[in-house]
Amino acid sequence: MQLCANYKLAFSNLCQISSILGRKCLALGFFTFRGLILCSMKILMVCLGNICRSPLAEGIMQAKIEDHDLDWKVDSAGTSGYHIGQPPDERSILVAKKNNIDITNQRARQFAIEDFEHYDLICAMDSSNFSNLKKKAQIQDQLDKIHMIMNFSQHGRNVNVIDPYYGDEGFETVFNMLDEACNAIISRFKSNSI
Ligand code: 4NP
Repeated sequence: MQLCANYKLAFSNLCQISSILGRKCLALGFFTFRGLILCSMKILMVCLGNICRSPLAEGIMQAKIEDHDLDWKVDSAGTSGYHIGQPPDERSILVAKKNNIDITNQRARQFAIEDFEHYDLICAMDSSNFSNLKKKAQIQDQLDKIHMIMNFSQHGRNVNVIDPYYGDEGFETVFNMLDEACNAIISRFKSNSI
């Protein structure tokens, strides 16, 4: 009788374990399926003022999202609040226009802590933006979302997207650098999306 009870207990434990495992596998399968099929990336481009570099990065990425028919979102922000509510710098508007991209509707805003929740990828234009963002992060998950944008195309080199604000030159270079980085971001994450 005792032996029989032991078998019964072992059988019932086995059933319980396989039921839990089954549910876990179903959940895992669901999330993997969702991750592979429904992944919608949310990207935030960040510079200092949100009037020169990050609006260009947003405009370039938005154009590529549309070209590739991706279900992704992109926005931009500044680590400072110097230019809140302002349209992009005329020189950024001009270089974007030359490349058939309209960024005139964008308005500068300051990075907010809640952005860590809303975005999957936070792209800093230079090492100063990068360290300012890192200081704002409170948990590892938030730290992991912050990347130097040029590292997507020039891995591990920590190249800065030059700040063109104080000189008239550099906007073309900034555009070309961001175009290269945005192409790399698309290639890196596109395979996980529809
Ligand atoms: P951004 O450029 O960070 O690329 O928008 C700048 C815009 C404004 C200032 C500095 C950089 N500023 O000192 O006001």
